[in-house]
Amino acid sequence: MERDFSVTTKNEDETILLGVKLASSLMDGDVVALYGDLGSGKTRLAKGICRGLGVNDMVNSPTFMIVNEYHSKSAGIIYHFDLYRMKSEAEVLQMGYDDYMENRGIVLIEWPEHAERMLPENIIKIHLSHSDECEDCRWIKIERP
Ligand SMILES: Nc1ncnc2c1ncn2[C@@H]1O[C@H](COP(=O)(O)OP(=O)(O)OP(=O)(O)O)[C@@H](O)[C@H]1O
Ligand SMILES: [Mg+2]
Repeated sequence: MERDFSVTTKNEDETILLGVKLASSLMDGDVVALYGDLGSGKTRLAKGICRGLGVNDMVNSPTFMIVNEYHSKSAGIIYHFDLYRMKSEAEVLQMGYDDYMENRGIVLIEWPEHAERMLPENIIKIHLSHSDECEDCRWIKIERP
C-alpha cells in the first residue's frame, strides 16, 4: 500500500472496506488519528479497521463513549477514542489518556484535535471530508510518517 494517498469512497461500505485494507498495514503501537467533521465517516472507517484486525464486536459509536476497548486474537488490544466531548487537554488527561498511550496495542482517535498537543509523534493521520461528487461521497486522505 502506498505511503500517502487519497481516495473518494461512494458509500459507507467502501469506507469500511478501506479500513479493512488499512488494517493490514498497522502494527502494534500504531496510533491512527481520524480527523473530520460530524458524519464524515470516522467511525465507519474505524469499524473497517477493527474488522480488518479481527475484531467482531465493534459497534457504531455508543452515545457516551470516550474510549472503547476491543480485543482481537491476532492484533491484541485496540483502543478507540472519541474525544468529541472533551473540552480541554486537562479533561483528556483525567480520563487516563497517558496510561492508554503507554500501553501496547493499536490506538484509533476520533476528534484528535481535542488532544492535538498530546498526540505522540509519528502517528498516522487520516482526514475525512464530505465530497461534492455525490451525496454519500467522502474524500479520505491518508498520511503516514
Ligand atoms: N462514503 C461514506 N463513508 C462513510 N460514511 C458514509 C458514507 N456515505 C454516507 N455515510 C454515512 O455517514 C455517516 C457517517 O457516520 P460516522 O459515525 O462514521 O461519522 P463520524 O465521522 O464518526 O461522526 P462523529 O463525528 O459524529 O463521530 C453514517 O450515517 C454513514 O451511513
Ligand atoms: Mg464517530
